[in-house]
Amino acid sequence: MTVTNVIEVKGVWKSFKTVQAVKGIDLRIPKGEFVAILGPNGAGKTTLVEMIEGIQKPDAGEITIMGKKWKGNENELHGIIGLSLQETRFIDKLRVTETLNLFAAFFGLGRTRVDEIINIVGLEEKRTSYVVNLSGGQRQRLAIGISLLNNPAILLLDEPTTGLDPNARREIWDILQNLKEESKTSMILTTHYMEEAENLCDYIVIMDNGNILKEGTLQELLEEDSVEKIVEFTADHIPVNKIIYSGDSSFSVYPGETKEKGFVRLNNFETQLPAFMSFMKENNITIKHMECRRKTLDDLFVSLTGRTINE
Ligand SMILES: Nc1ncnc2c1ncn2[C@@H]1O[C@H](COP(=O)(O)OP(=O)(O)O)[C@@H](O)[C@H]1O
Ligand SMILES: [Mg+2]
Repeated sequence: MTVTNVIEVKGVWKSFKTVQAVKGIDLRIPKGEFVAILGPNGAGKTTLVEMIEGIQKPDAGEITIMGKKWKGNENELHGIIGLSLQETRFIDKLRVTETLNLFAAFFGLGRTRVDEIINIVGLEEKRTSYVVNLSGGQRQRLAIGISLLNNPAILLLDEPTTGLDPNARREIWDILQNLKEESKTSMILTTHYMEEAENLCDYIVIMDNGNILKEGTLQELLEEDSVEKIVEFTADHIPVNKIIYSGDSSFSVYPGETKEKGFVRLNNFETQLPAFMSFMKENNITIKHMECRRKTLDDLFVSLTGRTINE
């Protein structure tokens, strides 16, 4: 049997007391793909990846890694999976190299691999620093370094850039981009940053409330209803959630990134744009700026759930 999917998740459910965290998920990850699981806080991302990692057990359903279940194959599967958890705890009083040596020893790997890893994650200048003194981005790079030690066929990263500033985030993207170009590793990362999913991943799975809402390549996700245009505007007042009627269609006003910004999603410029303009005029709202932009994953998320991903 040749295995084309490195991971298969079939009808998987998981609940905690009263919370149904994962509600019957099916997912297939083909070899060599970089996959993003994109969703807001509480979507069930961590629960899903931890079940794939064998850390949590599904209530129902089946998960196979390279065609094998966790039960009875723990040693083999630990050897092909690299992972970094949403929160990584290190031993503060160990230096960077010592930390890597410790983990390398688990896999029977030596100095050479540790040096390679330090190089890959760009921690050369921090070799002898105590872990407690690393910045958030450096700690996260160390965590990724550890996950890469055994050259895993499958890498699972839970929110690798959450809470990092844009520069630190970009450094991590560079490491992962290089990995993508230079290795055959398949990767799943969870994130609530659209740009992360867009920039790094071949395939994006949008998750909310324990379910997969939609999945596909970025192009597939955004082109599905490609007639839709986003018109963003700045005004002295944003009539949030107001419904504007135009002939037999209607559309509503969504809040933008700031108090002065809003946007509408239009399927028909010819009729809906004039309707929008007259609505604003009738309500004495002065438009200061207006622009048409391409649809993003966040827009898609809004159209699927009625709210933005980071709300
Ligand atoms: N150990 C747990 N005990 C109780 N509830 C949990 C536990 N882990 C997760 N949950 C709940 O399950 C839901 C999904 O959580 P999680 O998988 O962590 O989402 P995400 O990683 O997308 O933020 C949330 O409502 C969360 O509060
Ligand atoms: Mg999480």
